[in-house]
Amino acid sequence: MYLDNAATSFPKPEKVYEAVLHAMRDVGASPGRGGYRCSLEAGRIVYKARESVADFFSIRDSSRVIFTHNATGALNLALQGTLVPGDHAITTSMEHNSLLRPLYALRKKGLELTIIPVGSDGVINVEDIRRELRANTRMIAVSHVSNVCGAIQPIQEISELCHNSGALFLVDAAQSAGHVPINVELMAIDLLAVPGHKGLLGPGGTGFLYVAPHVALKPVIQGGTGTNSTAEEQPLVVPDGFETGTHNLPGIAGLQAGIEFICEVGLSAIHQRENSLLIQAEQALRNITGVVIHGPANSSMRCSVLSFTASGVDSALLAAELDHGFDIAVRAGLHCAPLAHSSMGTAPGGTLRLSPGWFTTSEEIALFSDAVVQCIDKIRNIDNNS
Ligand code: ALA
Repeated sequence: MYLDNAATSFPKPEKVYEAVLHAMRDVGASPGRGGYRCSLEAGRIVYKARESVADFFSIRDSSRVIFTHNATGALNLALQGTLVPGDHAITTSMEHNSLLRPLYALRKKGLELTIIPVGSDGVINVEDIRRELRANTRMIAVSHVSNVCGAIQPIQEISELCHNSGALFLVDAAQSAGHVPINVELMAIDLLAVPGHKGLLGPGGTGFLYVAPHVALKPVIQGGTGTNSTAEEQPLVVPDGFETGTHNLPGIAGLQAGIEFICEVGLSAIHQRENSLLIQAEQALRNITGVVIHGPANSSMRCSVLSFTASGVDSALLAAELDHGFDIAVRAGLHCAPLAHSSMGTAPGGTLRLSPGWFTTSEEIALFSDAVVQCIDKIRNIDNNS
């Protein structure tokens, strides 16, 4: 039973597998690298995918969508492509290392960095950000939904604060895209980093960065673009100058099919199903002695993941027991977000996190909950007898 859709979604819709195979078997060529028919067809696939992404996130100009290999690639491009020594950036303790590590690297080169400590419920207090604004604050960078506890952050308020102060607003949508609506216009998002392989149901090795038209971005990788070949300098044209090297055509074709699937099913239907599975799991887990659910108390302020600990039980051991005894895949530990666990009081062991997806059933959640009871009993009995 796969309950780690926050790491990557599985299974994918059938049409995603079909699109990947079609791109590999029937098209084969590299987009933008030839004038022959199959290369032009590959170009059309990439163009269609870019348009689908733009529609889905209410992006007016699809050329502002830059395909990357994952959300980490998008975040690195957003950060390294805009921030310079002497700038000040604000982020929070709820962030994933994909955002924190590039920021730490930039700090070594002269970036001023403020990391706002977040309370134990994992929700950002906008006033804490306001207090840290400086004249040189160039960016506020936050995740929309915590990959650790599912806390939905007050994006709209942070966006307003950001724009009133003249800073850029970077949103890491790793755990929100494909789960809750994102409208870059209404939310006034300047830079949106999205994985293609999680909530958007595309294959691994896909993602993108949206860059608003007023943001001047520097490329961070140089190489062939299939255009302007005589220029020594990397072209600054979006998206070509930022999609250097051969595209992941099968991945992009699959991503397009994933978005098409979400549009057919309906984002709100997906959100409702995932939420009802999380509520079912939460209700069952709360009946287990010593289990604590982490994140906001109100389930309407959480989405896509549920994190818990059981007193006296090591989360990694519990995950291993669930895997070995019941073939259940869940992620335990720090989830690449160590500061979030410090804020939530779950460091150093971390939590056990489950993340159902569209294809998860209520029966599976019931089996999962029973398995957790049995594994916790087993671990506690071993400890009592040793
Ligand atoms: N960021 C992904 C996770 O939380 C990989 O599991």
